[in-house]
Amino acid sequence: MRTQVGIIGAGPAGLLLSRLLTLQGIDNVVLESRSREYVEARIRAGILEQHTVDTLTDVGLGDRLRREGLEHSGIYLQYPGTRHKLDFPELCGRTVWVYGQTEVTKDLIAAQLDGGPPLLFDVSGVVLQDVDTQHPRIHFTDADGTPQVLECAVIAGTDGFHGPSRPVVQQARAGRVWERTYPYAWLGILADAAPATDELIYSWHPDGFALYSMRSPKVSRLYLQVDPSEKIEDWSDDRIWANLATRFALDGWEISTGTITEKSVLPMRSFVSAPMRRGRLFLAGDAAHIVPPTGAKGLNLAVADVTLLASALVRLLTEQRSDLVDSYSDRALARVWRCTHFSWYMTSMLHRSGDDFDAELQLSQLRRVCSSEPAARELAENYTGLPLDA
Ligand code: FAD
Ligand code: DHB
Repeated sequence: MRTQVGIIGAGPAGLLLSRLLTLQGIDNVVLESRSREYVEARIRAGILEQHTVDTLTDVGLGDRLRREGLEHSGIYLQYPGTRHKLDFPELCGRTVWVYGQTEVTKDLIAAQLDGGPPLLFDVSGVVLQDVDTQHPRIHFTDADGTPQVLECAVIAGTDGFHGPSRPVVQQARAGRVWERTYPYAWLGILADAAPATDELIYSWHPDGFALYSMRSPKVSRLYLQVDPSEKIEDWSDDRIWANLATRFALDGWEISTGTITEKSVLPMRSFVSAPMRRGRLFLAGDAAHIVPPTGAKGLNLAVADVTLLASALVRLLTEQRSDLVDSYSDRALARVWRCTHFSWYMTSMLHRSGDDFDAELQLSQLRRVCSSEPAARELAENYTGLPLDA
């Protein structure tokens, strides 16, 4: 098998890269180790920046998003006694959209299977070879158990944090990794309950952070800060709702409850691996970096990476000009570090850890954001998404 770009991983990064390249006439093949059903059911991020919405619209995937997605004009920041709305259009002229990663993935897969380039699910044994040459190859076994070799001009490693691409870049020993593990995790639930709020609520509470999000007018998505060692079996539905009610408590307002349809504990870490390239192998999305979810940046960062990468690869493969692929890693990492800082800032401001001194610093910072327009604008600009090449 031969193609121009071999793409490893059918998460949002790999699928969108495939679509962007296809629309520019570059052929590509996507290899995914999981089944279509698994990939489409994986519940993850929910907030799309304006840039992400515009990109999905530009590649012809805006219809269902605009029909079923929810446009949000701000968020609430809460701490005991106060719930304050940050109005994004007023502060920075932009909005965000609530549209689950599952839905983005379904839309991208449907478009790809409708006459797009090959998308092979259930492959195994993916091994990258000769990435330092002009003819890199991917060895894998297809869903029928047949060994295959995909000859490429370029490989895109969009295979997430645990995929095989990043280790190949790191083997070159010219790079560096930065990591921070946070001393807390999120317990996330999906519930058949109409959201009791018009905007997301990010709530600081002495018992720990809580986030009120949603997926539709009938489905709520909620998160609780918990210890990373917590076992999901120890959290009955009643215990979860009681903790959520406490952490979102506000006079005259009540949380709405319903059947919990999914619950899990998510670890939280920051991770950056540089460079995002080795020879003809380019990393994008979670394969190169992880942010804690508090800033809602993971999916948006993956989209920003592949937007830069797609134009760089088109230039390389149609005009034989390497200027954009040569600058790809530095340009992508500039944005990665901005989002890494913003995600760390939101995480550190909102999660309980440390002592009472830390708590007072957090509350002081929250009061500042809720009372100073420049401080609020800084948060709003980062949350709604900075320009691609900032
Ligand atoms: P992924 O979505 O991880 O896709 C990588 C793909 O590569 C996967 O389909 C994987 O199966 C495939 N793959 C892996 N190994 C191989 C292999 N050997 N061969 C072929 N394919 C392979 N972000 C937020 O902003 N908010 C959230 O609430 C949030 N929740 C999250 C919850 C979880 C459990 C996780 C893991 C992430 C969450 N994120 C969240 C982050 C966000 O979902 C990611 O940033 C986003 O999925 C990145 O997309 P990606 O395409 O780079 O990687
Ligand atoms: C969601 C997740 C986030 O990490 C966030 O900051 C906002 C919303 C969500 O899953 O809806």
